[in-house]
Amino acid sequence: MVREIYLAGTTGGTPALPTDLTALEERARAVLTPAAVGYVLGDAGTGETGRANRRAFTRRQLVPRMLRGAARRDLGVSLFGLRLPAPVLLAPIAAQTVVHAEGELATAGAAAEVGVPLVLSTGSSHSLEDVAAAAGAGPRWFQLYWPSDREVAASLVRRAERSGYTAIVLTVDAPTFGYRPTDLDNGHLPFLHGHGIANFTSDPAFRAGLPADHDGAAVVGHWARVFANPALDWDDLPWLRTVTSLPILLKGVLHPEDARRALDLGAVDGLVVSNHGGRQLDGTVAALDALPAVRAAVGDDVPVLVDSGVRTGSDVLKALALGADAVLYGRPYLYGLALDGQAGVAHVLRCLLADLDLALALAGCPSTADVTADLLAPPSWG
Ligand code: FNR
Ligand code: LAC
Repeated sequence: MVREIYLAGTTGGTPALPTDLTALEERARAVLTPAAVGYVLGDAGTGETGRANRRAFTRRQLVPRMLRGAARRDLGVSLFGLRLPAPVLLAPIAAQTVVHAEGELATAGAAAEVGVPLVLSTGSSHSLEDVAAAAGAGPRWFQLYWPSDREVAASLVRRAERSGYTAIVLTVDAPTFGYRPTDLDNGHLPFLHGHGIANFTSDPAFRAGLPADHDGAAVVGHWARVFANPALDWDDLPWLRTVTSLPILLKGVLHPEDARRALDLGAVDGLVVSNHGGRQLDGTVAALDALPAVRAAVGDDVPVLVDSGVRTGSDVLKALALGADAVLYGRPYLYGLALDGQAGVAHVLRCLLADLDLALALAGCPSTADVTADLLAPPSWG
């Protein structure tokens, strides 16, 4: 990709969108409605955790190794029998029509073009079946918000299984939405405006709970009752295992004891260390800082992913060096979606993979397996 850009430059061409993956936010801010800016860019509370997520990456520094023969790089990793072209998946992000009418359909198309798996949110604005059709042969997982009605929960999981999603990512850090001043100041929650509820309006178990003469407001009201399940606890997890034979990951785990407990239950196959991009409990530890203790608690064999603040190829190296098998890439692809639909998401993904490929070369790592803890400067150097 880098070569193509330089070659195009010999006849005067330059990329339509920035290639600095940290510059996309400002570009997107300029094209989005205030409600979308509030929802997508906003953090919980004072934004302390959002800032801590980035600080955790920028504070750590790489100490690259030389002369290790990095002419060819293998970015690939395997997760649950799936071969990924790079240790990157698209994080589940709800209500994507807030930034672009094609929303998750465009995202799925771009992910499939590049071969990066998509994790589709329960709160998608297009039904999981329609997104599966847009993804075609592209790999996909389904993120579950466990509804308060088990019939609906089982129905969503079975639909995902039938539509070719190959893992369930159960998000556990959002029994309720966090305190989000940017949304509160706008008085705007996308779901109440019809974004992000398509998996419910298309669901037979959900529809069975609607009154016969329902209008739009009744649908949203029923959604508000069913969507979240703040009462969920550890004893519920084995039930999910009875509903599906797909691998189950818990997303939003930060405490090593929670990580250990999840695995001891035998109902979980992997973890995503995450603080939801700083959108839930403000003052929470940066996800990257929580990663080493979680990895130590579960041992080497359990897939552990991380998200919250990943922006660049060097960030991916840092996450791998601290024990992650892969990262979930979040807001930046949504900025690509806002700026140029499917092409924008594909641009962002290609930039990230090009950056990561060069980062491996420059760090002296012919493959992702060569990224080990000694690639990071010890704190005493800092
Ligand atoms: C999210 N995230 C999220 N997570 C989840 O499990 N289900 C969801 O529906 C959503 N929805 C959502 C919407 C928006 C607008 C954002 C920004 C995030 C959290 C997401 O999966 C991921 O954890 C964070 O985005 C990671 O932080 P960064 O790297 O994007 O800042
Ligand atoms: C959010 C929810 C939908 O972060 O996960 O907005």
